[in-house]
Amino acid sequence: MTTYSEEFKLVARPGEISFSKGLDGVVAAESTKSYVDGLGGRLVYHGHPIEELAEESTFEEVFFLLLYDRLPTAAELARFTGQLQQHREIPEEIYAIVRDHAARRGVHPMTVLRTAISALAVFDEHAEEDTPETHQAQAVQITSKMATVAAAIGRVRSGQAIVHPRSDLSHAANYFYMMMGRVPDAFEARLTDVLLILHADHESNASTFAALVVKSTLADTYSAVVAGIAALKGPLHGGANEQVMKMLESIGSPERVAAWLDEAMAQKKKIMGFGHRVYKTMDPRATILRGYAREVTRRAGTERWLVMAEQIEKTMVEKFAQKGIWPNVDFFSGVVMASLGIDPSMFTPLFAVGRSAGWVAHAWEQRQDNRLFRPRFVYVGPESEPYIPLAERK
Ligand code: SDX
Repeated sequence: MTTYSEEFKLVARPGEISFSKGLDGVVAAESTKSYVDGLGGRLVYHGHPIEELAEESTFEEVFFLLLYDRLPTAAELARFTGQLQQHREIPEEIYAIVRDHAARRGVHPMTVLRTAISALAVFDEHAEEDTPETHQAQAVQITSKMATVAAAIGRVRSGQAIVHPRSDLSHAANYFYMMMGRVPDAFEARLTDVLLILHADHESNASTFAALVVKSTLADTYSAVVAGIAALKGPLHGGANEQVMKMLESIGSPERVAAWLDEAMAQKKKIMGFGHRVYKTMDPRATILRGYAREVTRRAGTERWLVMAEQIEKTMVEKFAQKGIWPNVDFFSGVVMASLGIDPSMFTPLFAVGRSAGWVAHAWEQRQDNRLFRPRFVYVGPESEPYIPLAERK
């Protein structure tokens, strides 16, 4: 008979030991990077309101802010921008992985992104070094290359030739250029930049937390980012934006929104792009994207997507606002990205291109004051079981 130490009740009779499922409401670390005010509907990156950054800043500046906890001087921004530009190109071997994997039937782009970013470590002779200089260098290199790999995946999936990065465009404009094969106009470049800024960080979301757990074991930064990509892929997290577009496409027209929603809610379906573990009011990023949606759908002639989205929003808010279920970042981002010409299957890779900044910033923050993440489980299995020889088992 195994005797357990009295230090911890390993077997909990229901209600004896409480725990928070999904770590709901549990604080896992201290961070200076971003704060999500779920009741107030506010998001700040190191004290800077997201609305201000979306209006005034650039992805390069926001990435610097997240890494170094301050806005860069002009000279620092120029140097940091140059580092990002310098590290955009990826080894031919990585292009070969993308060419071989991205066009295979049924392979999701996030699967290829996860594989290709993981393979990048093989070509970084410093991958296993654990020094401040290496951490910061890899933070820039991985984030810079994430855009190149994501764009290449989209090109191969759509049967188009890969477009290699240019070094004379901003991060967002170059990402658009590699995706579309043409330099964006000023509006397209600005909107792509805003999308990357809005997706850059969000406190302790599932993918950032996954990256933190990996980094807390002192694994390399590539491993931490791959964990983030893996977590982001899921439809409850970064995969929701693609599901929103699938929802709009299956509804088909504004006239069918009400009936579709009634049916979905009768079946207790989760409406993609709504609800959030922390926001219990409008996600401020959704508000910002709704503002851009009017202009980008007008330019693209896709106003019907916005009409449908606003109808869904109106109905959902009427029915569920009092339950704290509101639009989140993924609801309008789908309409905006589709109207920019981005294929829905490439929405989550764009999310990863932005969120790479948050993953590497939090990983670096964790490394500087690390303690291994190792929570407990409440064991609710049998306290002890006799070993019955195979021959005697019924
Ligand atoms: C992102 O964490 C982050 O910060 C993530 C993110 C980031 O920037 O990193 O903000 C990005 O991931 C945004 C969320 C994208 N996901 C979706 O849009 C998927 C649809 N949303 C839901 O699956 C849900 O709202 C979650 C997963 C986002 C949050 O789920 P919770 O906190 O676990 O809440 P829950 O599933 O326990 O729901 C609580 C109640 C339930 O009703 P009851 O059983 O209590 O009656 O609210 C209901 C749910 O049924 N509910 C919904 C709903 N979301 C919650 N009902 C209908 N449609 C929804 N979308």
